[in-house]
Amino acid sequence: MTWREYHEATKHTVESLRRAPHSLDWANMPNPFRHYEGVPVLDLPADPPAPEVPALEVLRGASGPTPACEGATFLSQLLFYSAAISASKCVSSTGYRYALRVNPSSGNLHPTEFHFRARCVREWPDGLYHYRPSTHMAEQRALGDVEIKSGGSSAPLVFVLTSITWREAWKYGDRAYRYCLHDIGHAWQALDLAARAIGCDSLAIGHFPDDEVAQRCRLSDDEAPMLLVELRGTSIPLGKSNVGETVWYGGQANQLSAEKTAYAWIDRIHAATRLSNFARRGISVAAPTPTGCGEIKLPPPAGSRRTFGEVARLRRSALDFRGGMQSMSLTQLSAILAAASRPFSADFAGTPFIQLYLYPHRVEGLKPGAYRHWPESAELEQIKDGDQRVVAAGLSLGQELAGNACVAFSMIGDLDRAAAAHGDRGYRYVHFEAGAIGHRLYLAAEALGLGATGIGAFYDEEVHRYLKLPPQEQVVYHFAIGYPVTDVRVRG
Ligand SMILES: Cc1cc2nc3c(=O)[nH]c(=O)nc-3n(C[C@H](O)[C@H](O)[C@H](O)COP(=O)(O)O)c2cc1C
Repeated sequence: MTWREYHEATKHTVESLRRAPHSLDWANMPNPFRHYEGVPVLDLPADPPAPEVPALEVLRGASGPTPACEGATFLSQLLFYSAAISASKCVSSTGYRYALRVNPSSGNLHPTEFHFRARCVREWPDGLYHYRPSTHMAEQRALGDVEIKSGGSSAPLVFVLTSITWREAWKYGDRAYRYCLHDIGHAWQALDLAARAIGCDSLAIGHFPDDEVAQRCRLSDDEAPMLLVELRGTSIPLGKSNVGETVWYGGQANQLSAEKTAYAWIDRIHAATRLSNFARRGISVAAPTPTGCGEIKLPPPAGSRRTFGEVARLRRSALDFRGGMQSMSLTQLSAILAAASRPFSADFAGTPFIQLYLYPHRVEGLKPGAYRHWPESAELEQIKDGDQRVVAAGLSLGQELAGNACVAFSMIGDLDRAAAAHGDRGYRYVHFEAGAIGHRLYLAAEALGLGATGIGAFYDEEVHRYLKLPPQEQVVYHFAIGYPVTDVRVRG
């Protein structure tokens, strides 16, 4: 299986980092904004109404009320709370200001693009669109009835989340494919939760014929479809189908860098995880998730009235956390773990592939140590005793934020089980799930007045050894939650 070779080849070790120090070619930094030039551009109304439903309720599976609005306002609201620019940051030495978005991205490089197919949305022309976050507008790439894949979909809105791997590879080399997959997981959850907050449901589809979707959407060569997300529900304002013949505008994709470097491992893992022989392979059922229990029963989760609108737009990655004495409560941790463990709505999500391990440094009522989370019984099993701050930072490539946080996490993926069910494609699904869990951690932390940061950089083998993991399990993502230090460079 190629996923295993890719995963092994992209593990961080002290030697690999020393052997291949990566210097950044600033002149070639990819543009974080894709435009399909020369197509009609439709305005999405500015300042759409903020979803007032509490964020923690959305994370627990509740839906917000149905907004009464036209299609353009609905789409504006959906995208403003899932994919839009939400703040900016200033480089102090030059004064240069760059954009931050609702969805996070490793290195803020944003490999993910949002395309959507609209059908029968009230006062909105049927067609295929690309979201332009730089101006909060929709580029109309085709007008009419566009099918994303054979067999089609009856959903009025189908999103196609794509990755431009070069954006991430420019900085992170071959390991970047992992981060692109995480970013898709974050973007998926950002979309799913925003949809829920405005009263509709989503279903993610990971199992689709890649080449066919790329061709039908006439994607630029550097963009690959990664996940389809169908949105349904009575809150989507519907009208009649409003156009006849399909008219393609397509548009000219902007060039993101003067030059592009090829990364052989990325090409290999992408090819291996594509479904080209789609017709012959259906989606199969994964073996059940291992279950267990621990000696610590988690208390009922803490609550918060902070609204989804506020939490989604204010979410930021903490640069670091205030070390000090301030602890978070066990009920807050319980709320965060409950949000992380709710089932996902996806064709690959029958059985979870990720197990959470945590290192609580400062959680009231929980002794410092390393613990395994058992979500079905809402219990923690202590697997190590003692202060883990130095260990957690050390395992996260020496990043101090993992030690200064109140709690750090290792997400452990059962890559073998995913591959047994889905072949190499399963490698994508495990990382989507990790990114999606990460997004819920971000929003739950923000709702509770805490901050969070996703951590894609860790010493793979050291984590494996430290947690005494069985051979089939692999660390796929790290995370940290605590009290963020103020970042004076950020403006909302
Ligand atoms: C998959 C992923 C991996 C990340 N890895 C790290 C990391 O190793 N260290 C870190 O400080 N931040 C990390 N981040 C945080 C990003 O740097 C941050 O999302 C980005 O700068 C944008 O800022 P924002 O989240 O406030 O929008 C990661 C984020 C994601 C989504």
